Amino acid sequence: PRKIIIDTDPGQDDAVAILLALASPEEIEVLGITAVAGNVPLALTQKNARIVCELAGRPRTRVFAGCDRPLERPLVTAEHVHGKTGLDGPQMADPVMPLEDAHAVDFIIDTLRREPAHTVTLCPLGPLTNIATAFLRAPDIVGRVQQIVLMGGAYFEVGNITPAAEFNIYVDPQAADIVFRSGVPLVVMPLDVTHKALTNRKRVEAFRALATEPGRMVAEWTDFFERFDMAKYGSEGAPLHDPCVIAYLIRPELFQGRHINVEIETTSELTMGMTVADWWGVTDRPANALFMGTVDADGFFALLTERIARL
Ligand code: BDR
Ligand code: CA
Repeated sequence: PRKIIIDTDPGQDDAVAILLALASPEEIEVLGITAVAGNVPLALTQKNARIVCELAGRPRTRVFAGCDRPLERPLVTAEHVHGKTGLDGPQMADPVMPLEDAHAVDFIIDTLRREPAHTVTLCPLGPLTNIATAFLRAPDIVGRVQQIVLMGGAYFEVGNITPAAEFNIYVDPQAADIVFRSGVPLVVMPLDVTHKALTNRKRVEAFRALATEPGRMVAEWTDFFERFDMAKYGSEGAPLHDPCVIAYLIRPELFQGRHINVEIETTSELTMGMTVADWWGVTDRPANALFMGTVDADGFFALLTERIARL
């Protein structure tokens, strides 16, 4: 299996991504989960990550708390999408499993130094603060990363937190800039992809019909998540953004995109955090990312349902 670190700010869709990874031990070995401030503050994201591990029946998964604010800018959160707890929807008890003592950034650095070079993939599902901090503090690890597969950015679908920017990149554009310039092979799941991975009645009922605790939770989370997106975008359901990252590791052929240059806006307040993606190759700037554009949504939901059923 491929060794990964999930860097996350749960978030209902982050939670589904974690479940998908923990349900797929043949393809994926989760070395650890690192929490970051994003959808809600760090105290909640690290707790939510542990709630999800317990729900998956994997309480020995190592969960670390990381950075509680972006590198330079004040933290922006998204309770308007995810609710006060970040995991609003079903009632969930506090986790019993412990939080690791080490800081998430130290865990990322130590793991990349300890494991053979090019054998660890980073999967960021939130603002890129933990990853950028690790790269700044330990530049020697950058060349050891196998790949970064992240959810963030947008091109044709432009913004969901400002007219120009997607939430994860907007919250910490300086961190995103460091990651996009790092030279690590990047795979990016922007809103262009995730807005094609929408829930609908049939897909949500398929989760509920599993009649397991994880199946029921996924159905209730997506029910909650839908309220915002259907009202806001008039779409048929809610995008399951973050599970696209994990689905790519299991079935990359579900996604299609282009190797292009992507740069991050870090100065203009109007377009702060925009992912300026050279989709049409109008510059000679070198490609630094496989920027995805489409997903086979039926295949994606079939995979998700089949894997959640295993928990
Ligand atoms: C991203 O922002 C968060 O609200 C979601 O969890 C996802 O990672 C989508 O813009
Ligand atoms: Ca997220």
